[in-house]
Amino acid sequence: MFHLPLSSAPAQFGNIDIYLFDQLLKGRIQKGMRLLDAGCGTGRNIQYLLQTGVKVYGADASEEAIAKVRAMASELAPTLSPKNFVVADLAQLPFAEEMFEVVLCSAVLHFARDEAHFRSMVQELWRVLQPGGMLFCRLGTSIGLEGKLQQVEPGKYKMAHGPVWFLADESLLRELIHTLRAEMLEPLKTVLVEQERSMTTLVLRKKGRDF
Ligand SMILES: C[S@@+](CC[C@H](N)C(=O)[O-])C[C@H]1O[C@@H](n2cnc3c(N)ncnc32)[C@H](O)[C@@H]1O
Repeated sequence: MFHLPLSSAPAQFGNIDIYLFDQLLKGRIQKGMRLLDAGCGTGRNIQYLLQTGVKVYGADASEEAIAKVRAMASELAPTLSPKNFVVADLAQLPFAEEMFEVVLCSAVLHFARDEAHFRSMVQELWRVLQPGGMLFCRLGTSIGLEGKLQQVEPGKYKMAHGPVWFLADESLLRELIHTLRAEMLEPLKTVLVEQERSMTTLVLRKKGRDF
């Protein structure tokens, strides 16, 4: 049996989100799948996937982030086209409908300008996802912090660590899950960080046409 030395774990997995790692351990991301990291930043969540034969794509509003991700991809997965990585707003993704078996969106949706922008982004993530595919989101929410947050406009809050975030509440998330007719692959899991911010993980499957 092949064992990886523990010392190689950081180089291999990088700073991958631990809840995404959980999905890997559950076998929900496989070689050959087409995967979009929506709001990929500099690519901490795709570093490992690029080395494993997953067909990785990325989108981000930041040109600089996409340049860095292209450079990383050209090293780790030279056969992937640099065109897989695009500068785009998540509310207008330049990808075909139902193109991806997996869509990731980690630490992005709370940067929505308002609820309409938040909804547009979720709709786009769903549009590009194949029936049977998995949408994995980690996002700041108000879950567990109800009544303790400083609201500055509808849905937007001044966070203790400085920025203003759009925070979905639990009812908005449940409404979206219902409207999308999504299957929950995991219950909603929320981590409360220092009683200051809540990070919720949402893992949904798009039901196939046979449902
Ligand atoms: C905190 S970083 C997260 C990056 C990466 N997903 C991760 O988990 O490390 C947020 C990223 O979202 C991008 N972003 C924010 N709003 C966006 C939008 N509306 N459309 C596309 N990208 C957006 C930012 O440019 C930034 O790279």
